[in-house]
Amino acid sequence: MTHPKTFRIKSFGCQMNVYDGERMAELMADKGLAPAADGEDADLVVLNTCHIREKAAEKAYSDVGRLRTRDGGKPMIALAGCVAQAEGAEAQRRSDAIDIVVGPQAYHRLPELVAEAAQGRRQVDTDMPVLSKFDAMPARRKVGPSAFLTVQEGCDKFCTYCVVPYTRGAEVSRPWSDVVGEAEGLVEGGAREITLLGQNVSAWRGIDEKGHEGGLELLIRRLAKIDGLERIRYTTSHPADMDEGLIAAHGEVDKLMPYLHLPVQSGSDRILKAMNRSHTADSYLALIERFRAARPDMAISGDFIVGFPGETEEDFQQTLAIVDATRYASAYSFKYSARPGTPAAEMKGAVEQHVMDDRLQRLQARLSAHSLAFNRSKIGETLSILIDRKGKKPGQMIGKSPWLQSVFCETDASIGDLVEVEITEALPNSLGGRRVRPAAAA
Ligand code: SAH
Ligand code: SF4
Ligand code: F3S
Repeated sequence: MTHPKTFRIKSFGCQMNVYDGERMAELMADKGLAPAADGEDADLVVLNTCHIREKAAEKAYSDVGRLRTRDGGKPMIALAGCVAQAEGAEAQRRSDAIDIVVGPQAYHRLPELVAEAAQGRRQVDTDMPVLSKFDAMPARRKVGPSAFLTVQEGCDKFCTYCVVPYTRGAEVSRPWSDVVGEAEGLVEGGAREITLLGQNVSAWRGIDEKGHEGGLELLIRRLAKIDGLERIRYTTSHPADMDEGLIAAHGEVDKLMPYLHLPVQSGSDRILKAMNRSHTADSYLALIERFRAARPDMAISGDFIVGFPGETEEDFQQTLAIVDATRYASAYSFKYSARPGTPAAEMKGAVEQHVMDDRLQRLQARLSAHSLAFNRSKIGETLSILIDRKGKKPGQMIGKSPWLQSVFCETDASIGDLVEVEITEALPNSLGGRRVRPAAAA
């Protein structure tokens, strides 16, 4: 096999994988490889995989199968991300088309692994050196108006259904100066919004320039001082890590957006206990109330699992009840998927597929009704929208509201502009409106 000249990276799964995919692309470009053009066969394909549910993991192998018989010839294939971490060398036993297996903590070594694989030596690297990958990365370059920045990795929560503590390792925070430096680089590169990422981002802790130790709140207050940065978001949070300071910051830091992704998973205390979630339905609702007291227009988003082992119709009714009590602006919901090696995979009381399907459908109908109600509540309001892409119709642009709603409008504004839009229509997944100009500019 010759050394690849072009590459393509395909990321599955969560935003942290999207971030990792961007960093891998920067690294490969730094080493002289060119991103393959649309429609062009890449010499190296990196599959940046997700292990969270069985379907997600299977996608990786169906992609490998497709690439192995590609018309233009099989590319060099690197399996990266959480499937790579979970399966290691086993992945290459499953498919000999995989040239490289590289885990989420080791991808800074990708250029060396590629060079070795080009010599015909298949590579596996699933080491978890503490954060050294970030030190080995080139500086950030030009980015879009909305950028991701991983500040925390790993998880110590061990929810009984979840693979993340095994694929991403223990909770680790990136140091203060690294994060602030990268944020400044992103803003110089064009970012106006930064989303701080972590599997448990609210568990981030660091020590500031003055030697004060603090959590995410301290970091957010510091990032808010960066000129040119207009919006700050963070995701994903765990109810156990939310502190008074972070709640207060939502009422005090204008750049911190009024949006919180706080997964609850279930509304049944019995199921929450079996999941090893440390909250109850009531403690979760009390937490949401505190956020709303600090910031009345706070929108809440969540994740749900239906059909966890032993879940009865009554448990499920409690999930519907917490949906109504929280009035989610948006949410993701999943059918439980048993993952090898997790405690829940050994639990009795598997819920039948058709029951799961039915519950998922009812849950999603309820969640959509709340999203639509939330979207409709914005009709007639003028919102600040960060334009991030072109629409399909001529002259149409799409941007994000403070609550992460996609907003369509006709405007001559460019990507990266913050514009005022009066909302005229609401759909379940988007808003439409017309741009209004401040009186002084009219
Ligand atoms: N750290 C985050 C997100 C983890 S993964 C958190 O704690 O919320 C994203 C979502 O996938 C989870 O919130 C959960 O709803 C879902 N999920 C995780 N494992 C799952 C499994 N085995 N089956 C179905 N859904 C799962
Ligand atoms: Fe998985 Fe729970 Fe950790 Fe989230 S908090 S990553 S659901 S173990
Ligand atoms: Fe998937 Fe790994 Fe993210 S399992 S959800 S890519 S942390």
